[in-house]
Amino acid sequence: MTQSRKAPSIETIGMTMRFGDFTALDNVSMKVRSGSFHALLGENGAGKSTLVKCMMGFYAATDGQVAVNGKEVAIRDPRDAHDLGLGMVYQHFTLVPSLTAAENLVIARIDTPAMIDWRREMKSLEAFMQTMPFIVPLDRRVESLAAGEKQKLEILKQLYLGHRFLILDEPTSVLTPLEADEVLGHVSALTKAGELSVLMITHKFREVRAFADEVTVLRRGKLAGKGPVSDLTNEDMAAMMMGRSEIGTPAPRHGEAGEPVLAIENATALDRSGYKDIHIDGLTVRAGEIVGIAGISGNGQVELMEMLTGQRSLKQGRITVRGRPIAPGATRPGATRCATCRKSLWSMPARRI
Ligand SMILES: Nc1ncnc2c1ncn2[C@@H]1O[C@H](COP(=O)(O)OP(=O)(O)O)[C@@H](O)[C@H]1O
Ligand SMILES: [Mg+2]
Repeated sequence: MTQSRKAPSIETIGMTMRFGDFTALDNVSMKVRSGSFHALLGENGAGKSTLVKCMMGFYAATDGQVAVNGKEVAIRDPRDAHDLGLGMVYQHFTLVPSLTAAENLVIARIDTPAMIDWRREMKSLEAFMQTMPFIVPLDRRVESLAAGEKQKLEILKQLYLGHRFLILDEPTSVLTPLEADEVLGHVSALTKAGELSVLMITHKFREVRAFADEVTVLRRGKLAGKGPVSDLTNEDMAAMMMGRSEIGTPAPRHGEAGEPVLAIENATALDRSGYKDIHIDGLTVRAGEIVGIAGISGNGQVELMEMLTGQRSLKQGRITVRGRPIAPGATRPGATRCATCRKSLWSMPARRI
């Protein structure tokens, strides 16, 4: 917590990262200005994570430099990044669920003493919270917080650690749109106040338009475009991401959906916490159909896949394939087994779906 409150500017100059013969990042120069909310866009595999890992000292770049406030700096590891006031917030939470918000903040410090004087720490945490534009209840266990509150706490943790440049790696992927707007609204207010500079990796144009002031786009490891968000349309940004020639109109789908191939009726199974049930009824996939499962992460998608692949047993209900119930435990010959528990990953009877 020794860094100044002023938001730094960060530049990469000719950043290059090779993994063997493969160039994941090719001579990328970009600048996040002080107090800017900068979006980093690119398709999967474009090099976004590699770029930010080089900036944070997780990777030693093959070539290139990082400059903070216009001065070249050596970031050999995340500790150097911390000392320069650079921090990172990940897509998935890094908090300890069974600890309170206060405990999570205090243990994140590098200088946490072996014996913690909680009265003193709580006083200083409360004083810290007073200076923040948003608060999270300090005495609540993290596991009882909603996803939006957890992500707010992750950001508070970074500010508490004295980081004034934050890399947010898809920070809203487990949030509802309302939660995302609240969290990003607070972050954006801090950037506008000049207290924070942000580089946010995202795939959501809506969030780029609503919160970011500048954007950098990577494609296949190279800088594909950049500019103020207000000068660019979504089509411009998509073209930078994919290349204009590659944006085609999808072939029209034709034909009628056929008979039900897969059906789930009144199926109940324990969710991953083991305390609640998930219940799925009336889900049918017909021949020739593509059925999308929508929902915020953590609402049963993984459990549904596990039910379908025989890794999660049903308490009631049934799953049928072309009208035939899937026999629990029946293993398809040659089925793939989990390398650790040797359970079958696919317990459907052998037949073409
Ligand atoms: N540790 C690694 N070893 C080898 N190749 C890697 C490694 N990390 C990433 N890559 C490759 O580098 C490219 C860029 O990856 P990444 O930076 O993760 O992309 P993005 O975050 O934009 O999806 C990908 O082709 C990926 O497979
Ligand atoms: Mg990535």
